Amino acid sequence: MERSVERHSPISARLSSVHAAMDAALAAARLGVRGANPLVGAAVLAPDGTIVTGHHRGAGTPHAEPDALAAARSAGIDLAASLVCVTLEPCSHHGRTGPCADLLIEAGVPEVVIALADPNPSAAGGCARLRDAGVTVRTGVREAEARALNARWLGAVDEHRPFTTLKIAQSLDGRIAAADGTSQWITSPASRERVHTLRARVDAVVVGTGTAHADDPRLTARTGTPATQPARTTRSTPVAHSDPAARPDHSAQPAALTQPIPVVVGMRDLAPDSHLARDPRTVHLRTHDPLAALQALRTQGLEHVLVEGGAHLAGAFLRAGVVDELELHIAPLLLGDGLPGLAGLGVTTLADAVRWVPDDTPAGVSHSASRPNPDTILRLRPADSPAEATPTTGSTTTPTTAQTTTPATEPTKGR
Ligand SMILES: NC(=O)c1ccc[n+]([C@@H]2O[C@H](COP(=O)([O-])OP(=O)(O)OC[C@H]3O[C@@H](n4cnc5c(N)ncnc54)[C@H](OP(=O)(O)O)[C@@H]3O)[C@@H](O)[C@H]2O)c1
Repeated sequence: MERSVERHSPISARLSSVHAAMDAALAAARLGVRGANPLVGAAVLAPDGTIVTGHHRGAGTPHAEPDALAAARSAGIDLAASLVCVTLEPCSHHGRTGPCADLLIEAGVPEVVIALADPNPSAAGGCARLRDAGVTVRTGVREAEARALNARWLGAVDEHRPFTTLKIAQSLDGRIAAADGTSQWITSPASRERVHTLRARVDAVVVGTGTAHADDPRLTARTGTPATQPARTTRSTPVAHSDPAARPDHSAQPAALTQPIPVVVGMRDLAPDSHLARDPRTVHLRTHDPLAALQALRTQGLEHVLVEGGAHLAGAFLRAGVVDELELHIAPLLLGDGLPGLAGLGVTTLADAVRWVPDDTPAGVSHSASRPNPDTILRLRPADSPAEATPTTGSTTTPTTAQTTTPATEPTKGR
């Protein structure tokens, strides 16, 4: 619910200007990467109507507020006379740079407009902190749009599970393995490179016992660039390991912690000499309940997981409604009587079809221009997510200028 504009705003910002700034903040948020963190944007509205923006670029990067403040400073904007719009309540917890609420206070920002309260108890409290410091705070401005932008992330928080990406590598006719079981490699080297970059972004890579037995995978991120996942260096602890005695001594294996945690779901034992059985970090969750499996991983601090199949596990996760992001890699080949990519979806009539829509936010995976990809990559989000409204100014006044910033060089905080 949007609240009325206060009559005595410190900088006399008109409602139309505030909406334009929040538009810019929402647009900036969409430049971020989905995953462990929500998409968040911020916009500084200067007294002359100039708007500069910042956004969060994903795990291990500066939050939107310091990004926008840095851009405003570079643009010579007087922060003590400016208003800041943020799509999510500024955090109040201590990361490497301190709470974002404190950064706004220290910058002398007199007024902050917030779209959505932070559902994360450890980060919430920014509003109160700002108000205690004498900052004018308006909340609920464009809340519905901010909520829609992060609908799946908010749902994952509500369900106490990690944000979940499902990747399927398939042929044109929807097969993930040939009839004789061969499946390496259906997709191109460029697609496989992308998968490794994706693995480097997540906290865990999940497969079913069927894939573990069929492919003997390692589930490691083998990428040319180092993984930027500070979270795993500080908090990853395997859960429900198939052999508790084999749990790793993390302090003795710092290098291994830059990799995602390999996770196998299913009742069957792993082959003793398989890569996953020999990897002391492997988590074996003996369950057929996708939500329970994910909740067990979230309990251990894992906030973004990549499910890589196979057909039965992928089908079960989709049927349970816990897939927040779907990445399809479609190779230009036909496999005929191979294994269909999804099993047990439970869809028998068109009315029950599970619908998806394209997600145009960045994947957080760069494309190598020198390596053309013959495959088609589809990044999708569930169609049942609320529509993400396109920004509207809600204003008939002359539009203010908006500019997107270059990445701030401040130290990261958060994950
Ligand atoms: N192209 C690709 O992207 C890709 C990716 C991965 C795999 N693959 C291929 O897919 C094939 C393996 O697929 P798959 O379907 O046989 O194996 P899978 O989906 O990897 O594993 C199936 C097993 O998962 C366990 N499971 C856990 N929760 C479940 C649930 N809710 N419902 C059903 N099973 C659940 C069951 O194990 P228990 O019986 O032990 O309880 C089940 O037997 C291989 O040929 C592999 O090469 C292809």
